[in-house]
Amino acid sequence: MKGIILAGGAGTRLYPATLACSKQMLPIYDKPMIYYPLSVLMLAGIRDILIISTPRDITGFEELFKDGHQLGLNLQYVVQQKPRGLADAFILGKEFIGNDNVCLILGDNIFYGHDLTKMVQASAQLKTGAELYGFMVPNPKSFGVAVLDPNDPNKLIAIEEKPEVPKSNLAVTGLYFYDNDVVKIAENVKPSARGEIEITSINNEYIRRGKAKINNLGRGFAWLDTGTHKNMLDASHFIEMVQTRTGCYVACLEEIAYRKGYINGTQLLEAAEKQKSTDYGKYLRRIYEENKNLDFGKQGTTRSRNA
Ligand code: G1P
Repeated sequence: MKGIILAGGAGTRLYPATLACSKQMLPIYDKPMIYYPLSVLMLAGIRDILIISTPRDITGFEELFKDGHQLGLNLQYVVQQKPRGLADAFILGKEFIGNDNVCLILGDNIFYGHDLTKMVQASAQLKTGAELYGFMVPNPKSFGVAVLDPNDPNKLIAIEEKPEVPKSNLAVTGLYFYDNDVVKIAENVKPSARGEIEITSINNEYIRRGKAKINNLGRGFAWLDTGTHKNMLDASHFIEMVQTRTGCYVACLEEIAYRKGYINGTQLLEAAEKQKSTDYGKYLRRIYEENKNLDFGKQGTTRSRNA
């Protein structure tokens, strides 16, 4: 399965912070926002990843991640000239996707939770159809909202994009797994009233075909909003608290790559050395010291935890 991170948009709700810089490059506590969705793809075992961003911001991401080899990934980049809607990711990514299935994650979505790794690893094995992730929110009007069968709350009937009167509190998060049909479906999506080709139209097509499933992220999970300055500060506090209290970093990309066996101990140490003046760099060294006798990279093991 291939992965796409959509990191475009003007970020107008975060002005002036985003007047000259991509929203997805702003920090959530100690690392750029895009680290979080990238970590989810890595935890799912996805290594071929396309990053889509604006003409202004794409070079920043290229500078940050290069070709991805230092994380054991194969990263590619594509420019989205205008924000045409989320479904555009599959049109822009058509060549990259080829004949594979694909996972799309929005560059501003942060997920955290027990067993997230297991869930996304399972979704990455999807053979046919679409797999979505839902999360109960107090403000469903701001999202795509799931309409569920009253007789079977696990059955999706439709998704409504930012409805005035939401039929449930289950928001559809920005993490989507699709079979290869998604490319053709995206090409046939008509622009919505707000002039965008909506991911919700794609999802409704899968529902119409009887091929969409939604995984409810219940208790024990957090899906963090980054829409406003306050949301971002709250998310930063959350990440800082989890990292300090548990001693485990969230979205530590080098750690995930190491535990998955994508990079070896020497590469992990290099990353630690480069960032040694930060707690992040010190954490990388600690992970190296704690595991050097196991050297995941050398053994090619796929052991991982929710990092
Ligand atoms: C988009 C989708 C929406 C989804 C949300 C998740 O909204 O259109 O269905 O619930 O992402 O973050 P946007 O953030 O583009 O307004």
